[in-house]
Amino acid sequence: MADLNELKEQIKEIQNEVKKSLEGIDSSKGLYEYKKLMLDGKRGKIGSLMRGMGSVPKELKGDYGKNINALKEWATDLFDEIDNKLKQQERNLRYEAEKIDVTEPAAKTAVGRLNPITMVKYELTDIFTAMGFEVYEGTEIETDYYNFTALNTPDDHPARDMQDTFYFPDGTLLRTHTSPVQIRAMLEYGAPLRIICPGKVYRRDNDTTHSPMFNQMEGLLVDKNVPFSVMKGTMAEMLNAFFGKSLKYRFRASYFPFTEPSMELDIECVECSGHNEHCRVCHGTGWLEVAGMGMVHPNVIRAGKIDPDEYNGFAFGIGLDRMSMLKYGISDLRLLFDGNVSYFLSGFGGVERC
Ligand code: DAH
Repeated sequence: MADLNELKEQIKEIQNEVKKSLEGIDSSKGLYEYKKLMLDGKRGKIGSLMRGMGSVPKELKGDYGKNINALKEWATDLFDEIDNKLKQQERNLRYEAEKIDVTEPAAKTAVGRLNPITMVKYELTDIFTAMGFEVYEGTEIETDYYNFTALNTPDDHPARDMQDTFYFPDGTLLRTHTSPVQIRAMLEYGAPLRIICPGKVYRRDNDTTHSPMFNQMEGLLVDKNVPFSVMKGTMAEMLNAFFGKSLKYRFRASYFPFTEPSMELDIECVECSGHNEHCRVCHGTGWLEVAGMGMVHPNVIRAGKIDPDEYNGFAFGIGLDRMSMLKYGISDLRLLFDGNVSYFLSGFGGVERC
């Protein structure tokens, strides 16, 4: 390669070839490969040009070098320019593909929710603790003494037949109600006292309206000179707070061995308010029974090692399952216990009515 013109000719050819080749390159990766190929010091058409310098006469070496370097610079600038363009195009394509529509509604995910009995337990606990009651948790396995005898229900008492009991071989039993916590709490804390006990209770019952395990909330208030009106006010307050509206209620005379007088608390039917004689909830009576209660029998106060001449009080037992069904419109007691998740997620098949 002794002639400068020859070199210039060669450079022109290389430039034309490069321009042509670049037209066919459509990715930055392809460009990179091509660039590597052309600028390679050994085999690259541009990169290896300097290797011919050995045979160039001394006085021409400077011009040769300048031309080759100018070609290199030209090619590098061109490669950079095209590389920028291709990369920008690729970025745009990627952004387009990854574009997120932030206005699109999110896919639904199933979230858990509490069993209505648990919700009702929490709601009532909040209501009563705000009135100064403390939570006292008893035991589910009880002795005959706490479950019956101490609650003024001795061995031969006919009231024992009211509650069909599960006994263990050693004579202990599954508590049939939360009332035994009354005795345990009085023995532990004495008077004055305000406790509630939410918990599971067990009876040999199993049909559409009874489950062998169900839930109650016991309440006990012991103090000096507690009038009947305080019990009435406490219950009215609880009903208003729980149902979020003022419902009609009534006390109906009843019998429990551990209270005197004893009564049951009925509320106006949440479904028909007494206006539908075929109502599936109250069966036309217009009333729903939600709790048993009364003024604590002196024998029970005594069993709690408190002097009944000095202290008196009232107690109540609320049916939590019943309250859940009424508040959340659940028609069948068994739905509360069979763990059908879709039923709960769908809002219990009913509407939240209160
Ligand atoms: N223990 C009763 C039951 O299970 C409910 C009850 C009635 C509880 C009157 C009480 C009460 O504390 O005073 O049927």
